[in-house]
Amino acid sequence: MKVSVIGTGYVGLVSGTCLAETGNDVVCVDIDADKVKRMQGGEVPIYEPHLDVLFERNIEAGRLTFTTSLAEGLEHGEIIFLALPTPEDEDGSADLKYVLGVADQIGKLMTSYKVIVDKSTVPVGTSEKVYAAISKNARCEFDVVSNPEFLREGFAVDDFLKPERIIIGSASERATDLMKKLYKPFVRSGNPMIVMDEKSAELTKYAANSFLATKITFMNEIANFCEKVGADVDKVRIGMGTDSRIGKRFLFPGIGYGGSCFPKDVKALYKSGKDVDYNFQILDSVIQVNQNQKKALIPKIKAFFSGDLKGKHIGVWGLAFKPETDDIREASSLVVIDELLKLGAEVTAFDPEAMDNVKRKLGDSISFAPRMYGALEEADALVICTEWGVFRNPNFTLMKELMKQPVIFDGRNLYDVAEMASEGFHYESIGRDK
Ligand code: UGA
Repeated sequence: MKVSVIGTGYVGLVSGTCLAETGNDVVCVDIDADKVKRMQGGEVPIYEPHLDVLFERNIEAGRLTFTTSLAEGLEHGEIIFLALPTPEDEDGSADLKYVLGVADQIGKLMTSYKVIVDKSTVPVGTSEKVYAAISKNARCEFDVVSNPEFLREGFAVDDFLKPERIIIGSASERATDLMKKLYKPFVRSGNPMIVMDEKSAELTKYAANSFLATKITFMNEIANFCEKVGADVDKVRIGMGTDSRIGKRFLFPGIGYGGSCFPKDVKALYKSGKDVDYNFQILDSVIQVNQNQKKALIPKIKAFFSGDLKGKHIGVWGLAFKPETDDIREASSLVVIDELLKLGAEVTAFDPEAMDNVKRKLGDSISFAPRMYGALEEADALVICTEWGVFRNPNFTLMKELMKQPVIFDGRNLYDVAEMASEGFHYESIGRDK
């Protein structure tokens, strides 16, 4: 099939590449000429496991091409994916200027039937707005479909190729049939393609992300309570998670959720509620609790150093908002580092992928270690902010040799409390310390 993808950010690039992988002819459009040139030369502009292999293969096969011309993209595809940014507005709502701007152009440029697919996470009612924006100038038939994506960074290729479900929000049989044909190769396993109205599809995405953020936040509150009463959140988590109605996943407590999706989507759904005079109390709490949770290690660190961190050397392991990405948007590490600097500490950080991004953001207010153990030299304490695999089984003997004193504040509960005591560490984590 002939497909075009407008916007080559994270979602657009993964979608375009994976759609090419199943034999479709895909043209990706982006206004950033420099980026388009780099992609044409085979350079993948984001870090995402396995994407590079698929990217190269499909470019070589001629199934994946790039252009800055929206007209060219529109001419090519029968199905046109909109994968455009929906940044957070000052009031927390999603800003639709890019989506509606492109919709306006599409109306002017379109010369034959197209299915326009909203792939970005957009508020309820956006497909109506897109429809209206295109209609203004349209001289031919078209349909607008909502098809939210459920990709996780770090697993995006796998999630796209083997989705648990495909949501198709469509009022047109013609458009639904084309979407089903396009996605058929991805659900050979029998996973469902669920067809519903556009508004329900749009809300499904927000509801799913907000529910997951709430699940994590609930567990973070249980963890905080565990500390007050001397319970162990790991045991509670396992005890709860074995109830299949609850499930084991997304119950891991820590120093809060981050990333480009959960924080933005929870706020946007809360704001959408306000717009129709509905107060999402639960989401309001989730937002507040998560903000505080990012600082959950700070009182512990302050208590250990009797409130005085001036001139203390703190090593930080993990800067990305989660492992397997270089993304630092809304990362808990940034809040932790900010607090440490405010307290007068000197910070040396290490992350396998995200150091360049943090360097760009924080300049030389902190130091960076090229290797993980480098962040521990003469350190008064180590603070762990991201659960990268390389931190899970470190050389504790070497760590003790390098550090001024064996002290770890672990925001992601990587190690066994009893084991750390027997290794001779002062070790504090989340929800497991009395
Ligand atoms: C999330 C959703 O999981 C995807 O389904 C969705 O498609 C995506 O948002 C999106 O809207 O595009 P992502 O932001 O890549 O994906 O990351 P997650 O793996 O969901 O992690 C989000 C945050 O929650 C991370 O900061 C992570 O550390 C935290 N988390 C996750 C926990 O604190 N505890 C857990 O048990 C799980």
